[in-house]
Amino acid sequence: MFDLSNKLALVTGGASGIGVGIAELLAKAGATVVIADRNAAGAESQAIKLRQKGFAADFVQLDLADEESVVQACAAVVAKHAAPWALINNAGLQDRESLLEGTVAEWERTLAVNTRGPFLMMREIGRAMRDAGNGGRIVNIASCALTGAIIKGLTIYSASKGGLLAMSRAAGLELAEYGITVNTLLPGGVATPGAINARGPEAEGPGRRPALLGMCEPRDIGAAVVFFASLEARFVTNQVLGVDAGWSLT
Ligand SMILES: NC(=O)c1ccc[n+]([C@@H]2O[C@H](COP(=O)([O-])OP(=O)(O)OC[C@H]3O[C@@H](n4cnc5c(N)ncnc54)[C@H](O)[C@@H]3O)[C@@H](O)[C@H]2O)c1
Repeated sequence: MFDLSNKLALVTGGASGIGVGIAELLAKAGATVVIADRNAAGAESQAIKLRQKGFAADFVQLDLADEESVVQACAAVVAKHAAPWALINNAGLQDRESLLEGTVAEWERTLAVNTRGPFLMMREIGRAMRDAGNGGRIVNIASCALTGAIIKGLTIYSASKGGLLAMSRAAGLELAEYGITVNTLLPGGVATPGAINARGPEAEGPGRRPALLGMCEPRDIGAAVVFFASLEARFVTNQVLGVDAGWSLT
């Protein structure tokens, strides 16, 4: 079950936090993992760590906010390896800004990475998957901020992740004819560098309540990704799964 041997998985944001857990769980399932991140040194270091554990891994630098960078990086991955079997759109910005102090600059910055970036990735890798003719799996990492308890300052972030969720549904419809599934994960709070160092006003609001089952770890999100990426999940598309340790129940 869930054997990803001889499958290529491309994970954005795999240099830090949740992406590290996703890359490791995919590698443990047998996939060759390519870590795509703006932080080239971090991506390379994670790929080296995976190889030292006996897994197959590579990295590519890309800036999701830059169309040309995305196009070039995706082409480089396909030329060096093959069309990915799985694309995990995980990279994201999670800084906060209060609505009443909100700026267009922060809107543009956040949506460029969290929403337009995954659009470009799905376009580029979707084309490669279609041309390869083997089907594929796309998993988009949104947030339980869409459905559960939230904190103040997430108006722009919520818009970016709501857009990602909406795109997942629309992309799933267009890609189904190629055997490509598109599903969305909604992680709960995970103590990652990005979450801990997020800029913005004090994190206050109902989302400060602890989750019932404890704090999620990157591997908890990774395990759900492996399911969506598996051959066994061939008829699972347009689904949304929260991995939030019961946060949404609080
Ligand atoms: N940590 C949480 O509590 C939490 C909760 C719900 C959802 N999420 C989502 O999970 C995803 C991962 O979050 P994380 O907490 O691991 O964050 P993180 O900041 O620790 O890691 C994000 C990675 O994305 C990369 N990245 C950022 N901008 C990029 C760009 N323009 N191009 C390429 N790579 C870029 C960073 O270099 C970094 O390696 C994000 O989409 C986030 O919104 C996180």
